[in-house]
Amino acid sequence: MDKVESAKKAAAFRAVDNHIKDAHRVGIGSGSTVVYAVERLAQRVHKEGLKVTCVPTSFQARQLIVNNNLILSDLEITPQLDVAIDGADEADNKLTLIKGGGGCQLQEKIVAAAANLFVVIADYRKNSRVLGEQWTKGVPIEVLPMAYRPVQMKIESKLGGKAILRQAKAKAGPVVTDNGNFVLDWVFDRTHDWQQVNQEIMMIPGVVETGLFVNMAKIAYFGMEDGTVKEL
Ligand code: 5RP
Repeated sequence: MDKVESAKKAAAFRAVDNHIKDAHRVGIGSGSTVVYAVERLAQRVHKEGLKVTCVPTSFQARQLIVNNNLILSDLEITPQLDVAIDGADEADNKLTLIKGGGGCQLQEKIVAAAANLFVVIADYRKNSRVLGEQWTKGVPIEVLPMAYRPVQMKIESKLGGKAILRQAKAKAGPVVTDNGNFVLDWVFDRTHDWQQVNQEIMMIPGVVETGLFVNMAKIAYFGMEDGTVKEL
């Protein structure tokens, strides 16, 4: 396993070991780091007999839960969660996050907001002093398909930078989220007050959700290059 994968795994295993207890209701994030969190959760459920109920943040997360024989629920049946564990594309020192590299930011934010504790797991490449230092692909913004053009224009004129319609590979057209929406990746050209910018973007008609997670994460685990895990 290469250094980055080992770092993801170390962070994910540490978070599950530190925060998941018997009878917990757990939000399961999306992305490649979360795969290791579910692996560890499944080990503990099947070896230690923990009873844990899992709520997914995407189709991918749902499949992970089902394929690992974990108990699957949803926010209708389980509207309050003890812990949500998720990855991030970038996290600054105050744990302001950019999420949605996989296009799952809407359900990820809803599930994180339903949890008493939101825990971030990531490898060392995601830990920045300020947002934009490492993640250059911008802030993912989920938009209603019919509104993407005016939203794109409003974001660029109000906030600067570029809001790029995310395209599927092999020129198959725009990426469509699990919720049937498009994603604009807003590549910003300066540092902002992220809370204020998040509110400004959310006010634009047609915007469904942003990948800016401000004041949501309580703790983050970063797997480091040297094999240690840094806690923030
Ligand atoms: C998906 C996400 C992911 O959590 C984020 O992209 C990090 O992914 P990975 O763990 O693969 O680096 O927000 O929408």
